[in-house]
Formats: sequence, C-alpha cells, structure tokens
Amino acid sequence: MLRLSWMTSPEPLHDIAHLGSVELLTPQLEKSLWYFRDLLGMEVVQRTAAAAWLRGYGDYAASTLKLSQAPSPGVGGIAWRATSPAALERRAAALQEVGLGIGWTNGDFGRGRSFRFRDPDGHHMEIYFEEQRYEAAEGLRSALKNQPQKYTGRGVGVRRTDHLALLASDVATNRRFAQELLGFQLREQVVFDDGKNEIGSWMSPNAIHHQLAYVADVKGGHGRLHHFSLWVDNREDVLRAADILVENGVFIEAGPSKHNNSQGFYLYSYEPGGNRVEIYSGSYLVLAPDWRPVTWNERERGTGTYWGAALPESFIQYGTPDIAGEAQTPAPDLSIFY
Ligand SMILES: [Fe+2]
Repeated sequence: MLRLSWMTSPEPLHDIAHLGSVELLTPQLEKSLWYFRDLLGMEVVQRTAAAAWLRGYGDYAASTLKLSQAPSPGVGGIAWRATSPAALERRAAALQEVGLGIGWTNGDFGRGRSFRFRDPDGHHMEIYFEEQRYEAAEGLRSALKNQPQKYTGRGVGVRRTDHLALLASDVATNRRFAQELLGFQLREQVVFDDGKNEIGSWMSPNAIHHQLAYVADVKGGHGRLHHFSLWVDNREDVLRAADILVENGVFIEAGPSKHNNSQGFYLYSYEPGGNRVEIYSGSYLVLAPDWRPVTWNERERGTGTYWGAALPESFIQYGTPDIAGEAQTPAPDLSIFY
C-alpha cells in the first residue's frame, strides 16, 4: 500500500513544465497511424516496424505522440517535461522517496535522460528535461519564423497535444499524488454529494486548464486510459473534424458539444485501435497562482454538458484496455459525470 505521508509544500512546485508526450498502445498500428496522420493531420517523424512517432504542426518538440503495436489498446508511457535539469533531479528524488520510482533511461525518441515512475494507480510516467527541438524538413518549413512547421491543411489539422484523462480506482489518492509530488494545480473537481469520494479531478502544471485528469474507474481496473486530447484553434474546426471522421467511417461517441467543467468544446471518437480520442477547443486559461479549485457536486454537475446531448453510458463504462465485468460495488452513479 502506498504511504500517504508525502508533505504538501508551503511553496508551489514549478518542477514540471508541461505534458510532453503520450504513448498510445494499439493492436492496429497501421490503421491507428492512418487515423492520426491522414485524418487528424499529424506528421510522422520516426518509424519502426512496431512503433510510429508523430507531432502536431504547432508542437515545438520532435514528437508528442507515440503509437506502439500492442495486444490491447491503452496508454503506455506518459512523459512530462521538467522545467530544468535540477527540477528533474528533484522530482526523481521525491518519487523515489515515496516508492514510486522505477529508474533512469536514456530517453525515448527526441528526449534525453528520463526518470521513469508510476502513479499510485499504476500508469507509467516519466520526467525528462533534454528535448530535441523539431526542425522541419524541406517542404514542411513555415513562412512564419515563430512556427515550427507549416500548417499543411491535411484532415483535421490538429495543432498540438492538450491533455489526457486517466481512469483511476481511487481518484483522491492519485489527485493528491499529482498535486503534491508533481506540483500540479487542482483546477476543478466533481465530488459525490456525500463528500467522501471524488468522481474526477482536473489538474495542470501550467496555464492550460488541465493537462491531466483522473476520473473514477467504475470497473475497478488499474492503469487504464479514458481519453487522449488534441487541440484545434476554434470550435468550427471541431465541427469540421466531425464531418471528416464520419466520412471516413470513424465512430463518434459524443459531441460536438460543450462541457460545463472546463468549458471545453469537444468531440470524442475511437481511433481504430480502440482508444478514445478527443478533438478539443475553447476552454479557458488559468493564470491565478492562488486559484481556488472549483468543486461541483452531483446536482451542480448535472449531465456534465453545458449544452448539447447528454454523454452516453459508454463514456462512463468504456476505457482502454477494455475489461470485462460490471461495475464494482459500490457502483457510483456516474450519470452526472462530466
Ligand atoms: Fe478531455
């Protein structure tokens, strides 16, 4: 059992800069690649037989998404960029101290030395500082000096990675881990009316509303993914994404519509490997260093949508890898979730 004796720092931690890269596991690598490259418009920057590395046209890093062939869909390594080499060392020592450390690696494609660890629910994460900046090949150079790559206009044309939502059997413990060990600021959360359990918590190390969310795993699993989210600049782009995905036979699970929590404008589809992917825009930035987390109870949360159709049952029940069985007891009523 993980001990919960880590201390809340009296000063905010600024050791993590942002979400750097997400690895998605897929049993359909070529089809997943088609989805992210041809439909969403990402660029492939590196390829092996069992993996592909991609990026959005606005990402400054060499790669922000890795697709890895695997027996089942899900999330692999989640990489966070540290604010400095010293910050990396500090976080590595703190994670080692509480027993979550796994060890050092030389880093995946585009990244230097990295410290691997797990969160309390079992998701694999790592922190790194050294980053290979993307340099566009001929034909992909932007006319804009301040843009790493030109906008190609292929498919949805996602600009960058935005956030991911992980399922966790114990949201509160994982939320505390992210706040106290990674220094993330809690932005919003949804709690049951009894006040004892958390349905979900949305957090970030920077001004982006949330870069990491933990939401309740109603099936009692561990280390599972709810969704991975990519940013587009405006709501019209989300609507256009819906057209493109439908025309290509991709299942749309929910949206386009607007959340109340985060105010995000969303569209959820399943990429061919089975992972839920969100096309996201709108939302709001958080600049306040003394931000007061917004807590929604069940009634306030309502259907989870600001307007638009209610989220389907699958949004609560399905995560990757998909696991058999019904909701564990006590089964929370998550119809108000999101
Ligand atoms: Fe999201």
